[in-house]
Amino acid sequence: MSATEERPATGGASYEVGFEDLTEELPPTSLEVTGELPEWLSGGLVRVTPAQKDFGARSVSHWFDGAAMLHRFGISAGEVVYSNRFLDTGFRREAIASGGKSMQGFATDPCRTLFQRVQSVFRQPAADNTNVNLSRLGDEHIAMTETPLAICFDPETLATTGADTAAGALGQVTTAHPHHDPLRGELVNFTVQMGPKSRYRVYGRGGSDAQPREIATMPAQEPAYMHSFALTERYALLIENPLVVQPVRLIVGMTLKAESLISQYRWKPELGLRITALDRETGEVAGRWKCAPGFVFHTINAFDRDGEIVLDVCLYEDASIIDALTTERLLDDDATFQDTSAPRATRFELPLNGDEAISAVISDEIDFELPRINYRAHNARPYKYAYGNAASGAPFIKDIVKLDVETGEHLSWGAADHWAGEPVFVPAPDAQAEDDGVLLSVVLDAAAQRSYLLVLDARDLSELARAQAPHTVPFGFHGQFFSS
Ligand code: CO
Repeated sequence: MSATEERPATGGASYEVGFEDLTEELPPTSLEVTGELPEWLSGGLVRVTPAQKDFGARSVSHWFDGAAMLHRFGISAGEVVYSNRFLDTGFRREAIASGGKSMQGFATDPCRTLFQRVQSVFRQPAADNTNVNLSRLGDEHIAMTETPLAICFDPETLATTGADTAAGALGQVTTAHPHHDPLRGELVNFTVQMGPKSRYRVYGRGGSDAQPREIATMPAQEPAYMHSFALTERYALLIENPLVVQPVRLIVGMTLKAESLISQYRWKPELGLRITALDRETGEVAGRWKCAPGFVFHTINAFDRDGEIVLDVCLYEDASIIDALTTERLLDDDATFQDTSAPRATRFELPLNGDEAISAVISDEIDFELPRINYRAHNARPYKYAYGNAASGAPFIKDIVKLDVETGEHLSWGAADHWAGEPVFVPAPDAQAEDDGVLLSVVLDAAAQRSYLLVLDARDLSELARAQAPHTVPFGFHGQFFSS
């Protein structure tokens, strides 16, 4: 592969509209489609986004704090239907009832708001504003955040159907990035159990009616902030950022002193980035590596290989990205992603014989975030392609990138004033090649102030079709394609 067409520089239209509140809920609405959708593509791309920050008397000022809304692009027989609906959460109900006063305190310090979801463990309500990611859990579909309280929804109607609280007994903090175990069929995640003897607890669940099955656990003297983790067929990999908290201090600081959670975390580069491989059969620690300090939101993939583990992540030099993601910074023309270290797709080779880890940037020509892969066929297994977003020098992510993780070669798609979100890979039926499928991304056309569903051929990032939404879909993090 080689880099594709030269992209025009960013134009003048502002992407700020992507951070504005959306309260309009639309029933299924047919969209105009240009181009040709693959005949086989049938199902719904459902994305969850923060959508409402203003509740009248008080509003929160952080992008991450908006009340969770689902958006669905239903695709069938070459046609696209759009609908959107708020999740019916305790967070939103109380925010409406109180005019936003129930959210008091979240917005005063933009830093603390990133961890509002964690904070809410200690201060009800708000633990259920599940605006980060979606998954299947057995027959259920769940929306998640970083507290172990998921909201169930109907992937067709987007109606809220219940809550899933089973993981709550395992800890106060979790990730919104569980993994489907390709061998057992379980949904695997971990929690952080905070207390005098804090622990990480990796568990699996066979379905929404199944209790968590503990897979492995390890002590966490100073628990790290971790947004995701990785699986290989044999191991679970915890990647501890050197952004850590003393649990006792955390609980005292937040409950007695009413301080924010993030202010309790400390950047301790001397700890390095610590990676631990937990054997998923025995629960034993199979390896532990201390690497140069760095910060990871998202893992890309991992797999076992002759006496070692290969782990790919989107790696920042430090945790300054957290501050860079406050709305204040995002909307400041002078403060951009360029002020902070750009995320680089980075490969760690982790020998199981006790040797040190080796790390190498996969491509230093592009930044790379919100990674996706051909998950069904390649999660926890060897793979060649990752798809993600790049800011490419713009103040926010905007382009779609396909990265060959073996060679570092890459392709990209982008257009001036068009801001693309996470590209979700959907494999073609009977696909022979890893990249035989499409990428679905919701893109903001800032000049038109409307979003559209973009469908790219994953092989060469050529555009197959787009479908114009009736309004702007607020910027969000993650979504999933649920096949019909
Ligand atoms: Co994420």
